[in-house]
Amino acid sequence: MTSVLKAIGLMSGTSMDGIDAAVLETDGERIAAFGATHFEPYGPEMRAKLRAGMERAASWAAGGPLPAELADLERELTQAHARAVDALLRSGGLAARDVDVVGFHGQALAHRPEQRMTLQIGSGPLLAAMSGIDIVNDFRNADVRAGGQGAPLVPIYHAALASDRAPVAVVNIGGVANLTFVGRNGELVAFDTGPGNAPIDDWTLQHTGKPVDAGGALAAKGRVNESVVAHLLQHPFFAKPAPKSLDRMAFSLDMARNLSAEDGAATLTAFTARAIAGAAKHLPSPPLEWIVCGGGRHNPVLMRELHAALQGSRVVTADDVGWRGDFIEAEAFAYLAVRSLRGLPISFPKTTGVPRPMSGGALSAKPA
Ligand SMILES: Nc1ncnc2c1ncn2[C@@H]1O[C@H](COP(=O)(O)OP(=O)(O)O)[C@@H](O)[C@H]1O
Ligand SMILES: [Mg+2]
Repeated sequence: MTSVLKAIGLMSGTSMDGIDAAVLETDGERIAAFGATHFEPYGPEMRAKLRAGMERAASWAAGGPLPAELADLERELTQAHARAVDALLRSGGLAARDVDVVGFHGQALAHRPEQRMTLQIGSGPLLAAMSGIDIVNDFRNADVRAGGQGAPLVPIYHAALASDRAPVAVVNIGGVANLTFVGRNGELVAFDTGPGNAPIDDWTLQHTGKPVDAGGALAAKGRVNESVVAHLLQHPFFAKPAPKSLDRMAFSLDMARNLSAEDGAATLTAFTARAIAGAAKHLPSPPLEWIVCGGGRHNPVLMRELHAALQGSRVVTADDVGWRGDFIEAEAFAYLAVRSLRGLPISFPKTTGVPRPMSGGALSAKPA
């Protein structure tokens, strides 16, 4: 392996639960070693600010002026990421100078690839100054400007993890759910399968004031309303061929509004599971197994629904196959940062729909 770099990846996903941080050693192709991890949770206040930022960004996407609050939010978000880097370095017994690069995803506030627009806030120069480490951020814009979906970007990292298990499907259940198919010949197909935890989180927040249906407790007490699930699955997104990507806010929960808190949670949980299982029809061949990553795998009702919807297929969790299920996306952005430095492609025609394999990411060098 030629010149392995020590990289940090930082991911703040659409669930807005906090920042996942992980150290990975890689040359941008193979994984040399896994390092420390850290999770920096957001408090309710930060989460509310991010939600408000998303609403502002939605009107900006529709052509309004860029709201000034977003600059303040970006600074605050970047400072939270600097704290995550500090804590990660401490837990790994590392100094800033030991780390070659940070892959900084930032927080997606809007994602409208059809308008060639995607907005991830997070300041590379500020994080470089605060951490004293070179930063790569803005991973999605080049892809979207070239006509790609700008998402998902983790597939090339899933391939690095899973190619020896091919043909295999790797599913990440974050706020939005995405899938990577790795074929026997290294073929890579990836797309968002639809909503992940976001509708369940939003519903739970609305009805209980808590941000997460912990343990699937609310859904477990409810009954699935099959006609609402069937209606939701008629959304044109699901019939669209891959590649495709989804804005977190694409689905309104209106259809469930007449349901009780419990039945709504059960129904939206079943909806997410079936949307994931429905992705099977877009795969080039049946996978030997489905490996589930991301926060959604901690929801036992969601996992039960997914097992039921994928009956006959082998469904395992990332942890079952020895991966760090909560840090795969963070590891992926460490990997992508190194690929960006090396000018290696991070997105592909069959993952984001970009016309040709493309690199991406913007480098902000640490202060001299
Ligand atoms: N114990 C749990 N019970 C139920 N749901 C959980 C649990 N832990 C995590 N989750 C779900 O996972 C989400 C976080 O997933 P994550 O992979 O971090 O998503 P993202 O990448 O969008 O931030 C939470 O918002 C919640 O919906
Ligand atoms: Mg998260």
